[in-house]
Amino acid sequence: MSISNEILTCIHERRSTRRFTDQQVSTDQLEAILDAAIWAPSGGNNQSWLFTAIRKKDILLHLNGLVREGFQHWIPDDDYPGKLRIKEQSQKETYNFYYQAPTLIIASNRPNYENAMADCSLAMENIFLAAHSLELGSCYINQLHWLRDDQDVRSYLFELGIPMEDTICSAAAIGYKGAELPVPIRKEKTINIIG
Ligand SMILES: Cc1cc2nc3c(=O)[nH]c(=O)nc-3n(C[C@H](O)[C@H](O)[C@H](O)COP(=O)(O)O)c2cc1C
Repeated sequence: MSISNEILTCIHERRSTRRFTDQQVSTDQLEAILDAAIWAPSGGNNQSWLFTAIRKKDILLHLNGLVREGFQHWIPDDDYPGKLRIKEQSQKETYNFYYQAPTLIIASNRPNYENAMADCSLAMENIFLAAHSLELGSCYINQLHWLRDDQDVRSYLFELGIPMEDTICSAAAIGYKGAELPVPIRKEKTINIIG
């Protein structure tokens, strides 16, 4: 790569983190990350997303219990390779869907909005890059999206302020890195420049 700058380096160096220390993210760090989220582009400038940051361990653990229960009777609606494995893993006592990160940010959006996932995904990348720029680790968490129609999960998320009718798009685990992971290689032939 012949061109480099701070943002390109941040993009290259960001990795999905799956091991975190117990140290909590500061309020200033969290606010900077959430601010990066809401500055993502959105279709028609809708900004109809909601980012819910959970920092309380007991709330996260309760949610983890509901996710484990939810997976018991959850039937994957497609053949996405990781789903069945995670359903199986979730039944282990030690399973924790957010990798015991001290902070979880849930991205939700209004129902029947075509760009709900696209908008939240762009915001997620802003979250990951902002976290990396603050020397924090982060990871995309899909489990709450998969369980978005689970009644018990949704009732609890409603208690946390996420409207029942909204769709759960994604979540981000955030915290200090407990371990560095190997850099996954990028596949070849995924770029095509014409002209
Ligand atoms: C749509 C999407 C869903 C993902 N879901 C999960 C997930 O539920 N759990 C997880 O550990 N990683 C998840 N990831 C992270 C990917 O596994 C990760 O980005 C990929 O392995 C490449 O690694 P890197 O992020 O370090 O470049 C997800 C990523 C995307 C884009």
